Amino acid sequence: MNVLVTGGAGFIGSHTAMALIDAGHDVTLLDNLSGSSVGAVRALRRLAGREVRFRRGDIRDAAFLDAVFEEGALDAVMHFAALKAVAESAAEPLAYYQNNVAGTACLLQRMAAHDVRTIVFSSSATVYGDPATTPIDEEFPVQPVNPYGRTKAMVEHMLRDMHGADARWRISILRYFNPVGAHPSGAIGEAPRGVPNNLLPFVAQVATGRRARLDVFGDDYPTRDGTCIRDYIHVVDLAEGHVRALDHIVATPRFAIHNLGTGQGHTVLEVVKAFEAASGRPIPYRIVGRRPGDIPVSFANAARARAELGWLAHHDLADMCMHMWRWQERHPNGYDDG
Ligand code: NAD
Ligand code: UFG
Repeated sequence: MNVLVTGGAGFIGSHTAMALIDAGHDVTLLDNLSGSSVGAVRALRRLAGREVRFRRGDIRDAAFLDAVFEEGALDAVMHFAALKAVAESAAEPLAYYQNNVAGTACLLQRMAAHDVRTIVFSSSATVYGDPATTPIDEEFPVQPVNPYGRTKAMVEHMLRDMHGADARWRISILRYFNPVGAHPSGAIGEAPRGVPNNLLPFVAQVATGRRARLDVFGDDYPTRDGTCIRDYIHVVDLAEGHVRALDHIVATPRFAIHNLGTGQGHTVLEVVKAFEAASGRPIPYRIVGRRPGDIPVSFANAARARAELGWLAHHDLADMCMHMWRWQERHPNGYDDG
């Protein structure tokens, strides 16, 4: 198939583009580079060993989208483009609703206008808010607790309504748990701008010496060592999940929601130990107060993806840290152009 990958220069989009190419699909990357750099596109081309189409522009720009659809003969869209920082979303909610919700509405309108009605959407486990129990399955209530999470929930509602209005739409919503790691080649990886918000990118920068130490946000949670538990999933497994999800909605046209997680939870301190083992470097840390909005425990029930998509995660935490370290050592400052 010929797949348009919005947010294709970003962390998950670039890895999924590689998985699509490996599976024999053609891809067109679309990105406004607001959260990424063209270095990712170059690195992906080198890794793929071939030209990969890239169109720089914004999903809120209808004329730009029309031009991309007109030149393409596109069959499907994988929609990653979004803003994703939880704290920033609380400070600048309108920027998030504008980009993530209005941007997706614009994209869906242009898709329909060009008769492309197959979409895989990047949602997040954040839509579950603070769940009553774990593991979390897809029937748990959607009750996000921050503006970023609400943008994801709103797009989910929008997609469900579109399918209700026109059953020709083939829609896959994927709710990711905590994507980490990098391509095993070390050629592409996560390149956050500024101080990383997320645990693994921060730990990796402590390992290289770019940051002095990690602040662990709270050790008084009701968990085995007092730090929060998350379901870390290797980005290559996650990318493979997208390829399966696309196959699934093409074979069985429907509106589908799947969790993508491993079903295993790890504490912050377990991650620190695993990264020390993978890198051979010490990770100095100190315990500080809780981060507002953090939930104690989150991990997936990934049974539905296994049953319906034939997908499950293969890489463990050691692989995630090893591949992330390989990427980090080779690209201590991210992609060359920043
Ligand atoms: P990322 O920031 O690396 O990638 C997002 C890309 O979208 C960036 O390259 C950015 O430049 C681009 N973009 C943003 N707004 C755009 C717009 N209006 N037009 C065109 N391009 C635009 O983030 P990521 O980690 O790869 O996340 C990809 C998707 O997965 C996002 O939708 C995110 O919300 C979702 N997600 C991420 C995580 C995570 O922890 N990384 C977890 C759950 C869900
Ligand atoms: N943590 C630290 N120190 C840090 C960074 C994180 O102790 O410097 C801790 C957090 O308190 C949390 C754990 O590490 O306990 C994981 O934190 P992340 O920020 O890496 O991940 P979150 O689970 O908070 O959030 C991520 C994404 C969200 C997404 C969510 C669910 O950032 O966008 O996973 O998919 F919605």
